[in-house]
Amino acid sequence: MSILNFDFSKEIQRLKKEKNAIILAHNYQISQVQEVADFIGDSLKLSRLAGETDASYIVFCGVHFMAETASIISPDKKVLIPDLEAGCSLASSINPKELLKWKNENPNAVVVSYVNTSAEIKALSDYCCTSSNAVKVVKSIPADQPVLFLPDMFLGAYVAEETKRNNIKIWPGECHVHAGITDKDINSMLAKYSNAEFMVHPECSCTSSTLYHVSKGDINKDCKILSTEGMMKEARESKNNQFLIATEVGILHRMQEENPSKEFIPVKNDAVCKYMKKITVEKVHNSLINDVYEVKVPEKIARKAIIPIERMLAIT
Ligand code: 13P
Ligand code: SF4
Repeated sequence: MSILNFDFSKEIQRLKKEKNAIILAHNYQISQVQEVADFIGDSLKLSRLAGETDASYIVFCGVHFMAETASIISPDKKVLIPDLEAGCSLASSINPKELLKWKNENPNAVVVSYVNTSAEIKALSDYCCTSSNAVKVVKSIPADQPVLFLPDMFLGAYVAEETKRNNIKIWPGECHVHAGITDKDINSMLAKYSNAEFMVHPECSCTSSTLYHVSKGDINKDCKILSTEGMMKEARESKNNQFLIATEVGILHRMQEENPSKEFIPVKNDAVCKYMKKITVEKVHNSLINDVYEVKVPEKIARKAIIPIERMLAIT
């Protein structure tokens, strides 16, 4: 059979059964990958699912830190990522040496790490959080205790604002995709679609200023700051029919599929994460056939990294 006629989806379904595998896909994956997945979700939902499954294999269609988190939570499962180059510019913005130095300079601080970090960074942290629970996690820490929040500065600024804490130090990291969604993009789209409901991911560089303008009444509109799964829920439950979405554009596929009568408009069409797009159905198939590429966190690191992850899972 020529490769052009090969039905990858059908073969993937067969291999999943044969190997007792599940496919987890992040909301930013390309549509064909979302369609072969068993579950689609945000970082928090996928972490929980990785901990609950009784499958022998987890094929993680997302980026490397997500597969690492699944391996830490489920050390007895074989976790595969279809392409090892699916990294994350935000996770790469801090290394263990830098964190150790920061901790030494702030010996009494509690370290809260966004889940978009390597396993080594998690192993040096007190709490993990995702975009859907960052505010709750920081609120759970006694108000007089200093916090080091890393690595996303826009999420950090949002958390500081929501918790009204002035004892948070924030690492100056950013996601190049979300940092590129600016005030200018928001303002021109709001002018064009004045009736649309407006949702923003907290990693966007426009998050703090948008919140500020909404609170001052300069933007005459409700703005919802949500994780990708929070956006999915809002799209489902809202009575509105038109939505402006400020995040990576991959999420629009699932939004439109699940809500065919509603209209979803990206604030920025070229907000594309090249790492998330590394995964294809061909690579998922290869992953299942050849057991590649296994993501296994060394036990010494995993034993420490599980502590902040479990603290996070217990809070939400
Ligand atoms: P979510 O947890 O909201 O899915 O975000 C993950 C991510 O990488 C955003 O860029
Ligand atoms: Fe990392 Fe940004 Fe891609 Fe999310 S969108 S995986 S934060 S580079």
